[in-house]
Amino acid sequence: MVSVLIILGSIIMVGNIIAYIRFIRTSNDVMLSGKRGEPLWAKVGLILLIFFLVGYLGVVIFGDPDYLIADILFFGAIFVSLALSLMYYLVDSLKDRSLELTETLIGVIEARDSNLNGHSRNVQKLCMCLYKYLPSNMKEGISPVSFEYAALLHDVGKLGVPEAILNKPGKLDPEEWEVMKQHPKIAMNLLKSLPSFDEVKDWILYHHERIDGKGYYGVPGEKIPMAAKIISVCDTYSAITMKRSYKGKRSHEEAIEIIKDVAGTQLDAELVKIFLSIPKEELEACTPESIDYNQ
Ligand SMILES: [Fe+2]
Repeated sequence: MVSVLIILGSIIMVGNIIAYIRFIRTSNDVMLSGKRGEPLWAKVGLILLIFFLVGYLGVVIFGDPDYLIADILFFGAIFVSLALSLMYYLVDSLKDRSLELTETLIGVIEARDSNLNGHSRNVQKLCMCLYKYLPSNMKEGISPVSFEYAALLHDVGKLGVPEAILNKPGKLDPEEWEVMKQHPKIAMNLLKSLPSFDEVKDWILYHHERIDGKGYYGVPGEKIPMAAKIISVCDTYSAITMKRSYKGKRSHEEAIEIIKDVAGTQLDAELVKIFLSIPKEELEACTPESIDYNQ
């Protein structure tokens, strides 16, 4: 019985360590550190867990464990497991609630603008859908949590654009375009007080850049972050399929044709290829209820 408790306790502790390593590897998103690499607290936690396991095995190998020692070690491993589970649950719940709050905030902001209503949430859902289809080399360095926030907040800078320009029924004149083109930079200013968004800011800043370098700020294709290129593909699809004050909505098929035409010039050709492989139903399911397709 002593041996069974010791073996089970060891297996649980190894499982705890593996789960903990997986947790801290995904802790560099905007809701935690927002930085690459594991934070100091995470490394200390890992050392303590390994110390626990080594001490455990030390007692088994060099000591003469009785029932009491085996119980302490076994239930200690169970306790660590429960504590870690509670931590994962709380962190996940906090992330979910934070995202819901941000979605609500964006919904309130967009409600003032008939051209934006539901657009950010549509881009958010399209981005997470496309992200799911990307090969791992294209997702490298893009935390899904951070990416979801970047997609949701990509147009938050439109808060600084006058409503007369946002809701203009016709095409914008050159001066108005210059004001509109400031919205990614305005977003930078709005997010500058959030250090965990440091990396994400560039994903938002460059979401109107083009592969051929003819985007808002003329950034060449190779300098545009992959996350910004993904947002750009989804933003384009969403803009085409939504009704706006200066144009009607277009069908999925029309949007696909337009996106194909701009692959390699405006949009990343590889990303477009992957986007086109997503079934129509999945893309249309990304439309939030607030967008009325029958308008
Ligand atoms: Fe935008």
